[in-house]
Amino acid sequence: MSVDDAARRAEQLRREIETHDRAYYERDASTISDAAYDALFRELQALEAEYPALSTPDSPTRRVGGRPLAQFETVAHAVPMLSIQTETDTGASGAEQFDARIRRELELSGAAPPVEYAAELKFDGLAVSLRYEHGLFAQGATRGDGVNGEDVTQNLKTLHDVPLRLQGVAPPVLEVRGEVYMRRDDLARYNQSARARGEKPLVNPRNGAAGSIRQLDPAIAANRPLKFFAYGLGAVEGWNPPATHRELLDALADFGFPVCEHRIVARGWRALAGFHDRMGEQRAQIPFDFDGVVYKVNSLALQNRLGFRSREPRWAVAHKYPAEEARTVVTAIDVQVGRTGALTPVAKLRPVFVGGVTVTNATLHNEDEARRKDVRVGDTVIVRRAGDVIPEIVNVVPEERPLARMRFRGRKAYLSALETLRAFGMRKISGPYLRRMPRHPAFQLPETCPECGSRVVREEGGAIARCAGGLVCPAQLKGALLHFASRRAMDIEGLGEKLVEQIIAGGHVKTPAGLYALTLPMLATLERMGRKSAANLLAAIEKSKATTLARLIFALGIRNVGESTAKDLAQYFGKLDALSQASAEALEKVPDVGAIVAESILDFFAEAHNREVIECLVAAGVRWPENEGRAGAPPGPFSGKTFVLTGALPTLKRDDAKALIENAGGKVSGSVSRKTDYVVAGEEAGSKLDKARELGIDILDETGLLQQLKGD
Ligand code: IVH
Repeated sequence: MSVDDAARRAEQLRREIETHDRAYYERDASTISDAAYDALFRELQALEAEYPALSTPDSPTRRVGGRPLAQFETVAHAVPMLSIQTETDTGASGAEQFDARIRRELELSGAAPPVEYAAELKFDGLAVSLRYEHGLFAQGATRGDGVNGEDVTQNLKTLHDVPLRLQGVAPPVLEVRGEVYMRRDDLARYNQSARARGEKPLVNPRNGAAGSIRQLDPAIAANRPLKFFAYGLGAVEGWNPPATHRELLDALADFGFPVCEHRIVARGWRALAGFHDRMGEQRAQIPFDFDGVVYKVNSLALQNRLGFRSREPRWAVAHKYPAEEARTVVTAIDVQVGRTGALTPVAKLRPVFVGGVTVTNATLHNEDEARRKDVRVGDTVIVRRAGDVIPEIVNVVPEERPLARMRFRGRKAYLSALETLRAFGMRKISGPYLRRMPRHPAFQLPETCPECGSRVVREEGGAIARCAGGLVCPAQLKGALLHFASRRAMDIEGLGEKLVEQIIAGGHVKTPAGLYALTLPMLATLERMGRKSAANLLAAIEKSKATTLARLIFALGIRNVGESTAKDLAQYFGKLDALSQASAEALEKVPDVGAIVAESILDFFAEAHNREVIECLVAAGVRWPENEGRAGAPPGPFSGKTFVLTGALPTLKRDDAKALIENAGGKVSGSVSRKTDYVVAGEEAGSKLDKARELGIDILDETGLLQQLKGD
């Protein structure tokens, strides 16, 4: 390839890559496969390596980042990077006070027209300054102390939001100031894959942004989903900025910088306060964090007139929102039981004002989460309450953990302390460690339900621990009663949600069996319950006593036992006693009952409270015909046998074959398993036949089926 050809090809590749980049980073649209993109990129890298003269400062290959630095160089800001005055009065008066101050400084009379302001978001990230020389990105710096910052050019180049070359006519010098930030969804995605790689997740978007830009190895920043918004100017040579802040931002957008769309120009403080409110309401929907809004005098000429006071401009203010994060102390860790019996650890907190309310509790979600965050009693923690979301503990402040002071007299005491240490989950054990032992142990869920004392069971592989108390646990009572009374269970008409709540609140019913002890005078005292409806309800309760075994099993609300499994169980066992005493093995013989369902049934009947409830139901007069499922099915040559039909039979239609089998006491199932007794195969039988062969199940054709029927 000639040098000319190489130059042409390199230029072509750059343009092509830039087009794909723009689609991807600006419009969130992929216009090429990852593999094809990588191929273009590598081709360009190879060309630039072979012909170094072809490499341009704005080539997309420059974003990949160079070698790690030993340290950052210091950058003296040509125009200092100022900070901004914050208005901590989070109400409308915050805006009013700023406007009053501006009017005073400008010596405006009460009759003078309202001042024009630009309002935008106060991004919660890291402030940086980007210097362009003759249109090319020359240097990027952090704010530092405002006068001197750190040279983070390499890291900033990895951001696709930072143009490597300005669009349009470029002045000799243009410094653009703005904020590096991370979107919350990008952070969540990044953290997910970081955890999968076994790396530490980022604590929050602000730390994520600031931490990434301050890394000496640009490969780290290149891997993080960092974004940028422009909001102001630094040094400028050879360019006349427009007359207003709004137009300045428009001009920056034309140069190719991302500018946040949530901005307005408004006159007077009421409009500013309105913007503050509106943006506050939208905070949860906007995909990145902002901790307030910024008001700026719109006219740059007026900004000049107002000037600065120490390190802050007089023409701007940050009007904050109530903080979403705060520090406080964990006073206890309680365990709450939900409506389905799920146990949730909840941290009790020293009251703290966060997200606009006083928070005293924060959820720890489940035991795994509590242990992952290692939250303990006495810990100082960061609590977050964003929008209407339930308050959460972001992390523990490890330095603040209360430690136990220990002194040992002799070797024996020391050794027994080691023993204790292990119980506290400490692995590395050495002398100094002993003196720095946490005062409180790692969190552990109780083994019995704090509401009812039943056992706590943890589903295999699942994060959720549940109370096995089902019917007796007051925390689960409402759901249990509603389910018990539902149409397909005991079918007690008229026992709705409001009524159940009142009955429970009155302490009248502690288990479903308690429903059968309700009396007319007691019901009549309830709100909106006349004598007539009370009598109707009692009649419905009385009527429900005559039921079927299948309905009763379903009504018990055993986890993972739905209506059809209840029917299968009733049919298979015939008696409740037989079911309650069945082993896992016996249970798994029932169609569609696997290990998980069997375990739920065992857990249920293992709980003495649950067995008591059943005794009370029987004592109250609940009854059902025994062996109905079995007695109901006509006894015949196929009793207890399961068939699977596959393929087309020569004379019998599928429904006819099914009816024949069922009338002979057999059952027809849709899929082949070890529980299948016979597979009846016709023409073009497919995978079911293969499976039957694999499992060694008897295979019949139509003639074989009819012979079996006759008992041959
Ligand atoms: S203007 C001369 N506008 O707030 C005033 N700052 O400035 C310069 N910040 O850490 C600041 N969003 O990074 C301005 N829309 C915005 C901003 C903003 C966030 C940050 C800035 C700095 C702090 C104080």
